[in-house]
Amino acid sequence: MTGAGTRRAFIVTFGCQMNEYDSGRLGELLAARGWQSAATREEADFIFFNTCSVRARAARRVLNHLEEVRALKRRKPSLIVAVGGCVAEQEGQALLDRTPWLDLVAGPQQVPLLPDLLEEMRATRGGFRRALTGPGRQPAWSRANLESLSKRGSDLKAPRAATLTAGLTIMQGCDNYCAYCVVPYLRGPELSRPAGEILEEAAALVAGGARDITLLGQNVNAYGRGLAGAPGFPELLKAVADLGVERLRFVTSHPKDFSPELIELYARLPALGDSLHLPVQSGSEAVLKAMRRGYSREQYLTLVRALRRARPALALSTDVIVGFPGETEADFEATLDLVETVNFDAMFSFKYSDRPGVASAGFPDKIPEEEKASRLARLQARQKAISLDRNKAHIGQVLEVLVERSGRRPGQVTGRARNFKLVHFDGSPELIGRLVPVLIAAAGPASLRGQAQDPRPVG
Ligand code: SAH
Ligand code: SF4
Ligand code: F3S
Repeated sequence: MTGAGTRRAFIVTFGCQMNEYDSGRLGELLAARGWQSAATREEADFIFFNTCSVRARAARRVLNHLEEVRALKRRKPSLIVAVGGCVAEQEGQALLDRTPWLDLVAGPQQVPLLPDLLEEMRATRGGFRRALTGPGRQPAWSRANLESLSKRGSDLKAPRAATLTAGLTIMQGCDNYCAYCVVPYLRGPELSRPAGEILEEAAALVAGGARDITLLGQNVNAYGRGLAGAPGFPELLKAVADLGVERLRFVTSHPKDFSPELIELYARLPALGDSLHLPVQSGSEAVLKAMRRGYSREQYLTLVRALRRARPALALSTDVIVGFPGETEADFEATLDLVETVNFDAMFSFKYSDRPGVASAGFPDKIPEEEKASRLARLQARQKAISLDRNKAHIGQVLEVLVERSGRRPGQVTGRARNFKLVHFDGSPELIGRLVPVLIAAAGPASLRGQAQDPRPVG
């Protein structure tokens, strides 16, 4: 039974890790004010959809979800329904106008405001519909921003929930304006959080038991640009590692901003994991140029070679877009060729999708849907075979696995190796949170399987 005063929040998150972070922080701020998390939408007093608009399909998903809560809202008028994230930023008031059962639209900058707003809304009982959008001048989660927004300064110290693996947003927005991408329009200009706050948050995560931390941002290796007195990204990484982080990763870094110091860190900083996500988007010189990515095919390949020299065990993953306007069969084959040359361990690949307001929306020579689908299928088939080969190469090796959860089968646990690959092995849930050496015995395209080497875990 729950008390009459219990308030429950249900948070649904789409899109990138920045949204995951925002949702997580919102949950923590709400918990600090006595909210509990709802197990289902039906028992929620507040439903929050944190949305993504990077491709048309992602943006459409939230509309189906909104349809579903319409009936809930009819049965329970006190329910507060909010849309946040990048669709909120894009649509703003128009989304509120079109959706009479929606109470609140809040862009990514406004998420820290929600706890205060919810209190006001519950006090005024309806008649409080609002669309809040617009870029901030401070990073949303920076102390300066929170202090200027929140009427309850004490909340700012809301503890980070104790987790084994944790994300930490170090910057927001993006100034790159790749021709296809809507992110700079929705997340605003690049803004770095002060290093002191990042280190404080990282220290709290480590104290809470985090062993694997991922620094988050759309262009993390530009960290510090435009922030007076800020360390560069390599210095920030070293400072976070010094706090005693076992495994340190970051997403997303941009090939054009990969400094020699950052490459060198892979040779010198063992806490940096053996994995790197380095989006290439295309292997064609002409398409890279049209995408305005700021590097050539050769520059990308040179970077990969330098990284592998610094850290031979590095597992690389990437993002690829197929069917960018004007992409010829020869351009596409150049992408296939690059994929073969690099030997990526994993890939996320997408059909090009026109987004409102981006440069490429106005480009000629759009590729027909069937052609995009066929190129995507060819690319994915190729990558699946490469991933399988790369994974099979681990058979017979002992990898150090950080156990994260129980496996799908009883008696099995699942974790990640230092190269971020998923490893399943037989073991008890008591191993969760430990580092276990695992002898790899079998490999699929997406995961590895093995046996724990030592009954006594190493960490
Ligand atoms: N900041 C990151 C990722 C941004 S969005 C970077 O620079 O790589 C994540 C991925 O979505 C991109 O890497 C790209 O592959 C894909 N993407 C972005 N816009 C897209 C579009 N209009 N159509 C298809 N895929 C897109
Ligand atoms: Fe989008 Fe390019 Fe910025 Fe990545 S770097 S978020 S793809 S504009
Ligand atoms: Fe999507 Fe916005 Fe992230 S568009 S990918 S949720 S920055």
